[in-house]
Amino acid sequence: MVERDHWWPVALDGDVGAAPLPVTLLGEPLVLWRDGAGAVQAFADRCPHRGARLSLGAVVGGQLQCPYHGWRFDGDGRCRAIPALPGFAPSASHAACRHAVVPAHGLLWVCLGTPAAPAPPALPPLPPRRVVHGPFDVATSAPRAIENFLDTAHFAYVHDGWLGAPTHAEVPPYEVTPTADGRPVVPDYPAWQPRATASAQGGAWVRYRYEVLSPFAALLQKQPEGDAPADAYLMWACPTTPETCRVWFVQHTTDTTTPDEALRDFQSAIFAQDRPILESQTPKRLPLCGGEAMCAADRLSAAYRRYLRTAGITFGVC
Ligand code: FES
Ligand code: CO
Repeated sequence: MVERDHWWPVALDGDVGAAPLPVTLLGEPLVLWRDGAGAVQAFADRCPHRGARLSLGAVVGGQLQCPYHGWRFDGDGRCRAIPALPGFAPSASHAACRHAVVPAHGLLWVCLGTPAAPAPPALPPLPPRRVVHGPFDVATSAPRAIENFLDTAHFAYVHDGWLGAPTHAEVPPYEVTPTADGRPVVPDYPAWQPRATASAQGGAWVRYRYEVLSPFAALLQKQPEGDAPADAYLMWACPTTPETCRVWFVQHTTDTTTPDEALRDFQSAIFAQDRPILESQTPKRLPLCGGEAMCAADRLSAAYRRYLRTAGITFGVC
């Protein structure tokens, strides 16, 4: 499965503290933990001895200790101690299954296979204030969730009175200009929003810029008219399974006055409007080879689907 050869975000960097943290990626249970050097490690959440969940264990002296018989593993996955046999030096074959993990943009990224790219996607310069929303666990596939983020035609209906209104349901013509590596970008998209941000007092015309950063990551930048705050939203989606995902929204804003809590309440309210629709869509995997009707307003969705097909990210749909 080509999806195994990509980097996917699995947790916020700050989520991994003194205790092991269980996460799921592409249906595989993983355990994240910090080794003696403070580096996060990602192992299969299964002890090589008798298959117990390592995430039920503990980090002891910079090593991950299994909850069942106490075998301890170092950051390389090598078993360093078998308490039932004091003085015995375990061989290299007594090893936990270790995966590549790297920190980037405040998240931890794991690749289960052979990395197709050297690192997670890069970001352009963004406003300095950063607020993380989520994670949200969603009962649909990661590409369905990302496609919803790229879709503005639903604003007038799903987010009536917040991000859109049925009186402004039209989607003006817009251009999709892919990057050299084939990622879809919409450089300029005008939209009318009744309440464009948490601090907005009334409706405003907003100019959007959309960029797909990687198969399940996208960036939306808003440049409102006047002196309203400029906002950028990153959406990072982890394919926990081919039909479920875990999503974070990371907001970068020039708004220095609205409290974090108010920004989070706004984003949670928006996502609570999206969630029932997202979870109602069938099939949960994105149909990448036809099967759903398209119109001109959907040209960004169509470009996103072409990009996924070219990258081979299909979850076996085609
Ligand atoms: Fe992990 Fe035995 S199952 S030490
Ligand atoms: Co929405």
